[in-house]
Amino acid sequence: MVSEYMDTVRRPYPTDVLLPDGVPTLLGARRALFRRRWTRLIHAIIAMRTGRARADAPRDVFDLLWEAHDSDREDLLADEVSTMIVAGHETTARTLFWMCTLPAKAPQWQTALAVEARRVDLSAEGASTSLLKLMLTRAVVEETLRLYSPAFMTGRLAKRAHDICGTRIPEGSIVLIPYWLCTGILVGGQPREHSFPRAL
Ligand code: HEM
Repeated sequence: MVSEYMDTVRRPYPTDVLLPDGVPTLLGARRALFRRRWTRLIHAIIAMRTGRARADAPRDVFDLLWEAHDSDREDLLADEVSTMIVAGHETTARTLFWMCTLPAKAPQWQTALAVEARRVDLSAEGASTSLLKLMLTRAVVEETLRLYSPAFMTGRLAKRAHDICGTRIPEGSIVLIPYWLCTGILVGGQPREHSFPRAL
């Protein structure tokens, strides 16, 4: 459904910018229908999880969300689950993919990571405090994110005029920042050789 969404109703259409908010359009109706199908699926997932006996299964993120949620507001829980699926899943999965691929091509780093991981308690109870001790692992995750950001772009609206390294940004501009192209390009205002193609 996420792929379907990306390929269809998520695409921007001229009516999105030409018509004022609230004007009914065919696309708006298709988006509402999609939202209804999506919400139904998320509630079905929640019902499936809460209906299943999990006495001896390990606790997971859903259990934490379930315990934290207000029992009258399953709609908010559904929003959290949706966020996890859409914003949290693919980003994390891609980061882990590249984070495994890069050290696999640099065996000395792979060994160093394994040595670091062996020194700490990674049990369910100990892992959250151990994470703070994994300095090398953190550095590798951050470098992976720098080189292969799973998010390709972010955007900002300039509330006032700016000057970014000699480029004038007028007030009210929408600035799109493609991380993939930015990697290593501007350091201290000086263009630098692009590191992306050399990363692997
Ligand atoms: C490696 C993993 C992740 C990466 C690389 C990533 C990346 C990003 C980026 C680039 C943004 C936009 C930031 C901005 O423009 O200011 C964003 C926003 C967001 N992400 Fe993630 N994300 C990750 C994991 C997650 C997870 C696990 C969740 C939820 C469980 C999540 C939920 C969100 C939400 C809700 C926003 C919107 C925040 C707002 O309202 O401004 N992300 N993420």
